[in-house]
Amino acid sequence: MTIHTVNTTAFSGQRPGTSGLRKKVSEFQQSAYLENFVQSIFNTLGDCAGQTLVVGGDGRYFNRHAIQVILRMAAAHGFAKVLVGQGGILSTPALSCVVRKRGASGGIVLSASHNPGGPDGDFGIKYNIANGGPAPEKITDAIYGQTKVITEYRTSDAGELDLDVIGGARIEQMDVEVIDPVADYAALMGELFDFAAIKALFAGGFTMRFDGMHAVSGPYAHAILEGLLGAPTGTVINGTPLEDFGGHHPDPNPVNAAELVALMSVQDAPDFGAASDGDADRNMIVGRGIAVTPSDSLAIIAANAGVAPGYRGGIKGIARSMPTSTAPDRVAQALKVPCYETPTGWKYFGNLMDAGMVTLCGEESYGTGSSHIREKDGLWAVLFWLNLLAASGKPVATLVREHWARFGRNYYSRHDYEAVESVAAEELMTHLREQLPTLAGQVIDGYTVDLADDFVYKDPVDGSIASKQGVRIVMTDGSRIVFRLSGTGTEGATIRLYLERYERDVAMHDMPAQEALAGLAALADRLAGLHQRTGRDRPTVTT
Ligand code: G6P
Ligand code: ZN
Repeated sequence: MTIHTVNTTAFSGQRPGTSGLRKKVSEFQQSAYLENFVQSIFNTLGDCAGQTLVVGGDGRYFNRHAIQVILRMAAAHGFAKVLVGQGGILSTPALSCVVRKRGASGGIVLSASHNPGGPDGDFGIKYNIANGGPAPEKITDAIYGQTKVITEYRTSDAGELDLDVIGGARIEQMDVEVIDPVADYAALMGELFDFAAIKALFAGGFTMRFDGMHAVSGPYAHAILEGLLGAPTGTVINGTPLEDFGGHHPDPNPVNAAELVALMSVQDAPDFGAASDGDADRNMIVGRGIAVTPSDSLAIIAANAGVAPGYRGGIKGIARSMPTSTAPDRVAQALKVPCYETPTGWKYFGNLMDAGMVTLCGEESYGTGSSHIREKDGLWAVLFWLNLLAASGKPVATLVREHWARFGRNYYSRHDYEAVESVAAEELMTHLREQLPTLAGQVIDGYTVDLADDFVYKDPVDGSIASKQGVRIVMTDGSRIVFRLSGTGTEGATIRLYLERYERDVAMHDMPAQEALAGLAALADRLAGLHQRTGRDRPTVTT
């Protein structure tokens, strides 16, 4: 085994987005493309000698190859140890858990989350810091800076390591430990939730379907739900990770997990349904005949936090991304704890959690989690709901309706316009921004505009500022229209339109969401010239 320095030339466009570098697999397959990015991470870290790194991914196509490349490069940079999940598998939340539990200096997650996988799909790579969370912007910016000036990378010519056998190995002077990807994570879940109560719930005949979407949550769900909690075999469906996710789009929302939603709407549906995405950090919660919006899920979890042993002492605060509905704000107010509004991207929650300012965090994009780790956590949310269902003895629909009756209902929907020509999308945003100074105070379609701005976040912990985080138009009745461009797409631009309408009156809680939001959608179209500028007459995806 020898360490080599290899000459290379920079690739343009290796800027990490909302959640790491995501590109088509074919782009990653270019010679030195992955190596350049990994070297840029290591250059940013500086001296890696003696450090421990955790590496794993969601099992998608290119995962195993990428891990071999990273192991050889880590060995060439003097890392003392790399912990890697068996088979190259570690869900994003499990990696965060392992980094924290084992005191590692960081981790590399290989995933493009919910984006489709396979040779024609997407791949992604993300660096997480020692707290287990995604690297903050100053680090990702520095990594990007390195990608632009890179001239060489260092690697070992060691052979392939067997990733399928648990145990130790060595590359150059570096120890490699292939670990059980589930064990640490399952133990943590057992500390947070009342497993005995959930076990009793299943023993009493409670039925559930968990859709692993052929992605990485499957092994975790099999081990925890069907193993530790005694749910009958067959509770977990699509539970074997496939390199191309079975050709599906592993995004747990009512569109991509339509099968599960359909299953939950029949008369003898299971009591509870849930799904998770490619790397298992997202979740969708479905009751018999009702899909719970992620914003409502966060609010309901916050309102009932005390049912779970890990949160019995109360919560310190809540944080939600700006486009997420304001339903959690109302709960925070009732609990007399702060609610922070952050830009889209889980990384913005890290400082608040590290500083002990918040316990629960959530995003409209089907992400929910807590300070137990520093990533959102799909199975955690599912286990929370199971704990709540066991403790309350009430069905999902009843819990949701009772929540609305107490706090009011925040009708909510997101309309995505995908693969729009980038220039047209930028022009639409500019057009909106130009109107911002004159909107406040105007009465449009019966709505009075209370605030119109391009969201700027000042991190209360380190004072860093993130600007241009989305155009929001907030009405005096609490209704909101939010526009932003996605930071995770890999084709053209994706325009996201988020609509929210608040309704206090219980008698008005039964409308279909799209119907309740139709007026706001029309107004949004008018303000942005959405349909005319994109040439589309409807969204690509509505959730
Ligand atoms: C990833 C991130 C989330 C973010 C989501 C949507 O899942 O981890 O924090 O909310 O992407 O991002 P986008 O920029 O596509 O709206
Ligand atoms: Zn994900």
